[in-house]
Amino acid sequence: MGQFLLEISYLIGSITFIVGLKMLSSPDKARQGNLIAAFGMGLAILGTILFHEKDGQGIGNIVWIFAAMGIGTIIGWMMAMKVKMTSMPQMVSFFNGMGGACAAIISIVEFGSHSGHEPGFLLTVFLGLAIGAVSFSGSMVAYGKLDGKINDIYSNVFTIVNSLMLLVIFALVGIGAFAPDMFGDNLLWILLGVSLLYGILFVMPIGGADMPVVISLLNSFTGVAAAFGGFLYDNPVMLTGGILVGSAGTILTVLMCTAMNRSLMNVIIGSFGAGATAGGKGAVGDQVAKETTVTDAAIMCAYAQRVCIVPGYGLAVAQAQHTCHEFEKELEKKGVEVIYAIHPVAGRMPGHMNVLLAEADVPYPKMKESEDVNPQMPQVDVVIVCGANDVVNPAAEDDPSSPIYGMPVIQVWNAKSTIVMKRSMRPGYAGIQNQLFFHPKTKMLFGDAKDSLSSLTSEVKSL
Ligand code: TAP
Repeated sequence: MGQFLLEISYLIGSITFIVGLKMLSSPDKARQGNLIAAFGMGLAILGTILFHEKDGQGIGNIVWIFAAMGIGTIIGWMMAMKVKMTSMPQMVSFFNGMGGACAAIISIVEFGSHSGHEPGFLLTVFLGLAIGAVSFSGSMVAYGKLDGKINDIYSNVFTIVNSLMLLVIFALVGIGAFAPDMFGDNLLWILLGVSLLYGILFVMPIGGADMPVVISLLNSFTGVAAAFGGFLYDNPVMLTGGILVGSAGTILTVLMCTAMNRSLMNVIIGSFGAGATAGGKGAVGDQVAKETTVTDAAIMCAYAQRVCIVPGYGLAVAQAQHTCHEFEKELEKKGVEVIYAIHPVAGRMPGHMNVLLAEADVPYPKMKESEDVNPQMPQVDVVIVCGANDVVNPAAEDDPSSPIYGMPVIQVWNAKSTIVMKRSMRPGYAGIQNQLFFHPKTKMLFGDAKDSLSSLTSEVKSL
């Protein structure tokens, strides 16, 4: 009976992972999907604690297990409740690192407690250990960099050293599995040390803003390492969970790279955006951008039929999502139709803008994907570019020498007029100037996005 209940809990767990993951693809169902998958995971853990048996023995240490789970739950809950939306990537990275550490510890424990060391078993143990350790140390460095605790270090030396270290890791895994007598049990600790070091050196030179891609890659590593754990324990729910995380992380990594029109190699070894230059207000070289005032911008918006807001990284920095929603509601009171154009890589993490706007209760149907909005652009009276830059840069379409050439962008220049809200003429993440700012139909509204939106809202109210 116990075995039957255990298998049922694993089956339900596996199904909830798949259903939950599917629901994560739509913003209005994502929260529910997360809860469903967490419920399934809880059920599978409880099933294991209560019903798992080996040689007629339960798993034991129940008090310790529940105490550890209780402490972990409280810490995780507190961290998740406290975290600011803009700090979400580092928290994801931290938690991902914990998953990698668990996978590596499973390999260490199983290596010590398993008597028959046949090649298949050893290969699984060493691969799980190496991938889990790389994911742990890499995620910790990513966390430190995103949180401003660790600075980027760019050097070509990393590329050479890292390539050599990767070869050493493969060689050690091969020796450990097929010639285990060469280093004996010491190999486990050598591999752990080299993998931890590789994780640090691999993430260290990557540009801070490329970190979301790296986190997604490390996340897929953790999934693969957990799947190796599932092999070791012959545990179907762990295997399913690991494979889902591994494949979802890989797909997300590829999608992010495609949306930026860059290869994964370019993200890993390039320092895109490292050379961002400063810029004053209004002029760059001999090009001068036209400025507008809050009053003029408010009049343009209030008397428009359709306004399209394009949010970007600056909206997140200014934490202007609520003010933006207020502005939108005020315009709607004047009979203006307002939509949001969301670029897939706007901001600094996947779905960054959707998450921010959802937090401010912007209705989902108003958030349009860039490819759906672009054909409608000629019918838009005013585009408000709010803290976005690269995702509205025409160089992606008309300048083959530009590093973002080929990246799909939101074609705001096809609208009747554009107002760009930012603090200066400084470039965005890609570190390149934007000819949109000098376009005849564009006007700049300089200032912090939250301050500008709040002044605009008051001005629209008074009209
Ligand atoms: P960016 O091109 O980075 O531009 C953001 C703009 O916001 C900057 O030009 C900045 O100009 C302005 N800004 C900053 N703080 C502001 C504030 N408080 N108020 C008003 N404006 C402010 O952003 P984007 O258009 O969202 O593009 C995202 C970029 O990040 C892309 O190049 C993308 O490839 C990259 N990227 C995205 C991701 C994901 S998954 N989303 C991952 C890695 C990289 P000022 O300093 O002049 O104000």
